[in-house]
Amino acid sequence: KKVVLAYSGGLDTSVIIPWLKENYNNCEIIAVCADLGQGDELDPVHDKAIKSGASKCYILDLKEDFIANYVWPCVKAGAVYEKKYLLGTSFARPLIAKHLVDIAHKEGADAVAHGATGKGNDQVRFELTVKSLDPDLAIIAPWREWELRSRDQEIDYAAAHNIPIPVSHEDDYSMDRNMWHLSHEGSDLEDPWNAPQAKMFRVTCTPETAPDKPEMIELEFEQGVPVSVNGKKMSPARLVETLNAIGIRNGVGISDIVENRLVGMKSRGVYETPAGAIIYYAHNELENLCLDRDTYHYKEGLAIKYAELVYDGKWFCALREALEAFVNETQKTVTGTVRLKLYKGNIISAGAKSPYSLYSQEYVTFGEDEVYDQSDATGFINLFGLPLAVRAMMKKGTLK
Ligand code: ARG
Ligand code: SIN
Repeated sequence: KKVVLAYSGGLDTSVIIPWLKENYNNCEIIAVCADLGQGDELDPVHDKAIKSGASKCYILDLKEDFIANYVWPCVKAGAVYEKKYLLGTSFARPLIAKHLVDIAHKEGADAVAHGATGKGNDQVRFELTVKSLDPDLAIIAPWREWELRSRDQEIDYAAAHNIPIPVSHEDDYSMDRNMWHLSHEGSDLEDPWNAPQAKMFRVTCTPETAPDKPEMIELEFEQGVPVSVNGKKMSPARLVETLNAIGIRNGVGISDIVENRLVGMKSRGVYETPAGAIIYYAHNELENLCLDRDTYHYKEGLAIKYAELVYDGKWFCALREALEAFVNETQKTVTGTVRLKLYKGNIISAGAKSPYSLYSQEYVTFGEDEVYDQSDATGFINLFGLPLAVRAMMKKGTLK
């Protein structure tokens, strides 16, 4: 038996290696670690996997793939979960799971394994993706089988099996990091009355410690995706890194939410998404200029459904693919430049322009114009308001 494991080098996935060997007939384990821009955390991962008992460890650089093919579609859709969560973990899972399946095929493995708990969303995302891409692969989710019931018990298990582990007993937020976001759950955040502690933040600075001087940026989009910062063209991953650096020093992109998990319970999460907050804000500014009213409003509703599908792990489903095609059609004219002012945690509009702008000063001006006949509005309002007037007459008894 050969098992391909989604491996991060963190506590959960480190403990899984000896556990799988003990409980699945000393099976061979291929560890797969996705580099989604989590940075220096990755340096020791390969050696650690081998020391823990894996026979091989792949480290895959998926940064450009991640931003271009998973993040950008959600930006174009305006997909935000429950108004606050920019889906940083949700859209990383299908990407990781897709590569697990590819490597399972390449290595002739019979199963894939992951370290998500039986209480969360991530298990669903990993497994729905595997089912979508190869329903014949077996899936092993140790958290749903083993006797370990807490992080403390895992730490003891790791110590007993000589597994090198990254955390001590005190530092116990559940975190997920990639170049789009860092999530924090658990520990003191489990009480929603507790404000996040400033020392918890690992990515951004807090608004209080950001400079007292605003910073201006210009972000250029082509067909709904950002392509340059301050006039400099960049690849998707470079662009996100650049905006992260800018967002971080201005304390933007902190989001604190009690969200509805797919598996039923509510959970408290605090997310750090500096580049993401800037990009979503700017994208909306440009849509305000470039989309007609019907399309813009229709898209607002669609964005909620899109985010729900992504949150629920249905990346590779027919409806998301169909919505993506619709969204791409709407983005053909979402091209232009947005100027923003960043100041102590705030993102403030400071101008937008587009060759496809539908904004017309001639039509909207409060000054004199040559194109709009105000007397046209009389007939328009008479017909538009007819049902309201009819209902009022019915109530009054004057309807003939
Ligand atoms: N609640 C978020 C989500 O469901 C973040 C999950 C973080 N996952 C983790 N393994 N720490 O997408
Ligand atoms: C987990 O349960 O493994 C993390 C949280 C989640 O998946 O929602």
